[in-house]
Amino acid sequence: MSEKKKISFEITVFNSIQELGSSEKILLKKAIEARKNAYAPYSEFKVGAAVLLENGEIVLGSNQENASYPSGLCAERVAVFYAGAKFPGVPIKTIAISAASDNHRVHSPAAPCGNCRQAISEYEFKQEKPIELLLMGEVGEIIQCNSIADILPLGFNSTFLE
Ligand code: THU
Repeated sequence: MSEKKKISFEITVFNSIQELGSSEKILLKKAIEARKNAYAPYSEFKVGAAVLLENGEIVLGSNQENASYPSGLCAERVAVFYAGAKFPGVPIKTIAISAASDNHRVHSPAAPCGNCRQAISEYEFKQEKPIELLLMGEVGEIIQCNSIADILPLGFNSTFLE
């Protein structure tokens, strides 16, 4: 007999950055700052990511594009790979993300692309502790997610290789 199962998860929606707790506010402001260092001459869509580590360090990333489009990299992966390279093995607590376009106002919270979800989930799985996400556009509401696994259900991880 087949069985229907429902996968659901909780998010918290904040109306503005002012509603966040102080450390989350600081982190999201850093992500907004990080957008300035985006190299996005092709899409003109600038994304900033700020990674808060368990040792209190904050590592920033921004999207870095390339004339050969697939050779560029999203802000989230730049940030988490940089964190892994600079502070190897230090667990990630929270990743804040903000996106803005030169051509229109981004009102919706920017969610990591599928490749970034997979890349971040590698670290979450390894550290055995959830990575919190704070997602924002340029203006408008902020979405807080408790775990990357929530937004990558039925994900692939290293146990499949064993
Ligand atoms: N981008 C990110 O940096 N993060 C995302 O989550 C989605 C997309 C970048 C990639 C590319 O430089 C530009 O935004 C347009 O897709």
